[in-house]
Amino acid sequence: MKTAIYPGSFDPVTNGHMDIIQRASTMFDKLIVVVLINPLKSYSFSIPERVKLLSQATKGIKNIEIDSYDGLLADYFKKHDVDVIVKGLRATSDFEYEFQMAHTNKDLNPKAETVFIPATANTTFISSSMVKQVAMFGGDLSKYVPAVIHEEISRKLTREFAQKRKAAAEKRGEE
Ligand code: COA
Repeated sequence: MKTAIYPGSFDPVTNGHMDIIQRASTMFDKLIVVVLINPLKSYSFSIPERVKLLSQATKGIKNIEIDSYDGLLADYFKKHDVDVIVKGLRATSDFEYEFQMAHTNKDLNPKAETVFIPATANTTFISSSMVKQVAMFGGDLSKYVPAVIHEEISRKLTREFAQKRKAAAEKRGEE
């Protein structure tokens, strides 16, 4: 039995991630999607929120498990019975960063091999930041995130952005 892990921040999961998840789930017996932390990033959704959104988005996929881990991917790989790391490549601009991560993970754990799946052409421009920006201004997310979660994402980000705008306006008023 071959088990793959698909790691990422998933802040939030997008149709780009779903493209890789759906295709990887047909290539392996089991796919574990793991929400990890990139300590150099700041996130809009908490880990439980990201796990919940992923669970809702992947409900129809039978051989999938959603998990989260507050540590190194190479250590997660060591602690679980997994065979390979799966990553998506959207464009050559992703390559250098992903190549560096794949080598670092293998250096930290020689068993941690990474395989790359090229993103489907119509998802190559999607990113979580782009989705968040569209949501903050109340734009239509339906083409960028799975239908079951787009309302939840819109609601949270529109509200948060409105609060930030209000706070900024109040601050300017005080000055
Ligand atoms: N389609 C569309 N978008 C995609 C995509 C795809 N197939 N694959 C990735 N993306 C986007 C994401 O939405 C994200 O967009 P954003 O930058 O606007 O938020 C961006 O590409 C980066 O994605 P991600 O894979 O989540 O990278 P990351 O840098 O946010 O996180 C971790 C990478 C979490 C896997 C990595 O930091 C990690 O392993 N952390 C644990 C600690 C560790 O082991 N660190 C050392 C590893 S070298």
